[in-house]
Amino acid sequence: MLTSVRDAVAVVTGGASGIGRALAQRFAAEGARHVVVLDLDGAAAGDVAADLPGGSGYRLDVTEEDALAELVERIEVEVGPIDLWCSNAGVLPGGGLGTNQDWDRCWRVHGLAHLYAARHVLPRMLAREQGHLMLTASAAGLLTATDTAAYSVTKHATVALAEWLAIEYGGGPVGFSCLCPQVVRTAMLDATPAGAAVLATGPVLEPEQVADAVVAALAQGRFLVLPHPEVTEYERRRAADRDRWLAGMRRLRDHARQSARPDPPASEDLGTFSGLWRLSGNRRGWETSR
Ligand SMILES: NC(=O)c1ccc[n+]([C@@H]2O[C@H](COP(=O)([O-])OP(=O)(O)OC[C@H]3O[C@@H](n4cnc5c(N)ncnc54)[C@H](O)[C@@H]3O)[C@@H](O)[C@H]2O)c1
Repeated sequence: MLTSVRDAVAVVTGGASGIGRALAQRFAAEGARHVVVLDLDGAAAGDVAADLPGGSGYRLDVTEEDALAELVERIEVEVGPIDLWCSNAGVLPGGGLGTNQDWDRCWRVHGLAHLYAARHVLPRMLAREQGHLMLTASAAGLLTATDTAAYSVTKHATVALAEWLAIEYGGGPVGFSCLCPQVVRTAMLDATPAGAAVLATGPVLEPEQVADAVVAALAQGRFLVLPHPEVTEYERRRAADRDRWLAGMRRLRDHARQSARPDPPASEDLGTFSGLWRLSGNRRGWETSR
């Protein structure tokens, strides 16, 4: 079971930016033998890799199965057996029920891309009896995110797949984890629609803090990586009384829609991930309200 990235070959998808970039940098700092940075933006992936002591960067659209399979083969031949694959790329769809295009993109990136990683990386790890697969979901995949159905539902799919993999193939030499942060200060956050406010019952973390949580969870062999530990309690409350939790979410929704109010509802009432996007007000307004 992989408990440290020291001397490991680590691969991070969506590694050109935000959480993925922080993971790549942290793995290199932890003594990984080689960190492969993969991203839709190949040039940015190359830039991130160039700053790492042992790194390489490639363009990869994680939703293209053949390209992913080819790159896995290339990495294993040119760099060595992959010890850790972080399937981390993610996208932010439009709000509300979303368009068919939103759903298609989200299913591909938050669902199929993780499946492709499992299909093409996992058999190699199982055959070697060594390795670790981490899927980046979101607290929205455990709870929900207000306003964006496509993001919430497909992140639930990510969590479900990670759990399925951990049950089906876990408990042996190959490890599995699922990263579920609440709000993190990245380009995804910056890309929220103009005039958006972000509400959270926990702090907005830096990507480096998320990387800390990933490294710690790996060392402890924990499946669920929760950089915002309060999510554990929110999940418990959701499971304990679903109607109360839904009522709390509706209060949050109402609050979000008139977020000129300085303070979000008390987290005791919410017991939930308050989520995201397309809210009135603005992020600065939220930040100064803390
Ligand atoms: N930022 C947050 O608040 C937050 C919270 C919970 C979960 N997450 C998840 O964390 C992960 C990383 O997000 P981030 O916040 O660092 O955002 P980000 O936008 O900074 O990084 C996402 C990266 O994924 C890449 N990407 C998108 N589609 C791709 C594709 N098809 N193939 C390859 N690369 C692709 C983008 O080019 C980008 O570099 C995502 O899965 C996201 O859903 C983010």
